[in-house]
Amino acid sequence: MAAETTFAIIKPNAMKKNVIGKIIDKWESADLEVAGMKKIHMTSEKAQEFYAEHKERPFFGELVDFMTSSPVVVLALRGENAVLKNREIMGATNPEEAAEGTIRKLFGDNVGENAVHGSDSTASAERELALFFETTEIM
Ligand code: RTP
Ligand code: MG
Repeated sequence: MAAETTFAIIKPNAMKKNVIGKIIDKWESADLEVAGMKKIHMTSEKAQEFYAEHKERPFFGELVDFMTSSPVVVLALRGENAVLKNREIMGATNPEEAAEGTIRKLFGDNVGENAVHGSDSTASAERELALFFETTEIM
């Protein structure tokens, strides 16, 4: 399989724990390479656009407030099977259900504040990368 690129976010609760390096180590240890990375503070408009698929869900307002509550780190991660591989490394959405050793098990606090985002398909990855990166910022 050819290398693919997925999109990831280190979310505000993980930023507060000062564990950017520990999270990136999980990706690098699994042969995912940081192809693009920056620290940003998302606007409410950007967070709403990013999570548009969830706009009818009861937790949408809370999710947007959380994602805009502090700076985050956005990343483009490249490697074999990067999209699915990252979903495995992250673990289940709810940290209580996440497997031992996954990022969400280690650094997630609850189903909302679950430390990281990762694209759920190659189509989502393309859309999400384009929302946060210029093509020249991924190398
Ligand atoms: P993500 O998009 O952040 O990578 O997470 P995911 O695919 O595992 O989960 P998804 O269903 O896409 O949900 C997106 C984010 O919404 C928050 N959430 N809160 N309070 C709740 O019941 C609830 N459910 C989901 C989480 O932050 C989740 O990551
Ligand atoms: Mg999702």
